[in-house]
Amino acid sequence: MKIGMNKTTKKLQQFIIFGATGDLASLMLFPALYELFVQNQLPENFQIIGYGRSAMPREEFLKKFEASVKNRSKQKLNKLEELLKKVEYFSGQYDQESDFRALDDFLKKMAKGKAREVIAYFSVPPVVFGPIVDNLAATVKKSAKKIKLVLEKPFGTDEKSAEKLLKEISRFYDQSDIYLLDHYLGKRPIQSILKLRMENNVINLMIKGQEISRITILALEKNDVGQRVGYYDQVGAMKDMMQSHLLQILALITMDIPVKADTESLRREKSSILSAVRFSGKAADVVFAQYKSYQKLEGIVKNSKIDTYAELKLQIDRRDWYEVPVHLITGKKLDQDLTKVIIEFKKMPIQSAKAASNFLIFEIKPHELVKLALIQRRTDFKNAKVEAYESVDLEQGLMCQTDFCLGPYASLINDVILGEKRFFLSFEEILSAWKVIDKVEKVRSKSKLLYYEDGSSGPKRQN
Ligand SMILES: NC(=O)c1ccc[n+]([C@@H]2O[C@H](COP(=O)([O-])OP(=O)(O)OC[C@H]3O[C@@H](n4cnc5c(N)ncnc54)[C@H](OP(=O)(O)O)[C@@H]3O)[C@@H](O)[C@H]2O)c1
Repeated sequence: MKIGMNKTTKKLQQFIIFGATGDLASLMLFPALYELFVQNQLPENFQIIGYGRSAMPREEFLKKFEASVKNRSKQKLNKLEELLKKVEYFSGQYDQESDFRALDDFLKKMAKGKAREVIAYFSVPPVVFGPIVDNLAATVKKSAKKIKLVLEKPFGTDEKSAEKLLKEISRFYDQSDIYLLDHYLGKRPIQSILKLRMENNVINLMIKGQEISRITILALEKNDVGQRVGYYDQVGAMKDMMQSHLLQILALITMDIPVKADTESLRREKSSILSAVRFSGKAADVVFAQYKSYQKLEGIVKNSKIDTYAELKLQIDRRDWYEVPVHLITGKKLDQDLTKVIIEFKKMPIQSAKAASNFLIFEIKPHELVKLALIQRRTDFKNAKVEAYESVDLEQGLMCQTDFCLGPYASLINDVILGEKRFFLSFEEILSAWKVIDKVEKVRSKSKLLYYEDGSSGPKRQN
């Protein structure tokens, strides 16, 4: 992230939110824009335009914007009035070119003849991605100096649909102008994995397949599916969490660090390792489970078999990595909130099999930290024949401690404004990740859905 540059950007930027009446806009985007404004990171010439089918006067939209910031933002509210002056609302259909022509006229009027860059944020369900892409291309794209599209996961429902979607977008737009967003990549401790690896070779000397006995990535939540029941019941934990969030973390951990730090080189390495991730195709290497009260939720399909918990064992087809099992585990309505990468090291020949292991840990939730957990044998233990160990932990917080701390959405929107794409996905990464998950989905019918108690540690195994 480039710090403190946006203020100096003189060009006019128009930030359009399609689906501005929806949840994502209220929960995340409006507060993120305010966060950037408070931190002086929005360009001086910046206009925000909410777009939705719902007809409403500008004042009503401003009230929604204001309420969202008041409810969700951690910032002082003293600059909210000032930001609201930059906010407009435009009502139209997503599939009507005539509405987009009217939108284009509206944008030109707002720009008062100045050249403008347009950022189009797709905060709508994927069914309307296509029509918006087409209609923007026929109208706004022609009149703006530059247009950037921001699309948020899910990108399709399998490899085929993702490929179709990505092809559709790239018919009219250069890949460099398409920002494919996974908000996990906006989280500071996840960005730190890459930053620490790029700047501290000591970490890379440790993250070597030959020295590692196992990698585990956990994303456990106490929350249930909340208000996203309709969406979640079609998707489940495997597709919602593993397909992008957890495989992206795995890529950041296992990718080679390129010689150059530019976005293309980083993406090439990330995409390369993702293309080497393999699922065995065996039902024994996957677990699907559901929390017991899920069936009582309103809005789910009767007897829904969707997974609210999933485990997946993977391997990486690389000389350095192929013997290292990778375990991804995620679930909702569990007994803890924990997002963590655990890298377990092989033991020394001198150590017995019973000896405790050393770990390198990146914790994202509840604490943001990196930890090297070393062990040493206890010598004060009375019975010298019994092995007892104590842990010597080297731990450092990864929390933001500067004046310039942005949440995930603000950080990624800031990157879009600046044209920084390091923490966005490439087409290749998305397709490689779907290849893995498509293969997992093929064994879903052979894998018995397990059930777990609400608030427990997950499904109980037979063995
Ligand atoms: N909510 C989250 O926390 C979250 C997190 C990650 C990703 N996402 C993704 O971000 C996108 C937006 O999420 P959201 O939760 O804000 O969705 P949403 O509330 O269901 O929809 C956003 C807006 O899109 C319009 N819309 C809804 N259904 C439509 C349909 N069938 N056809 C045309 N327009 C429709 C509605 O606005 P109008 O009727 O006013 O046009 C609605 O207010 C989705 O792709 C979602 O998967 C959401």
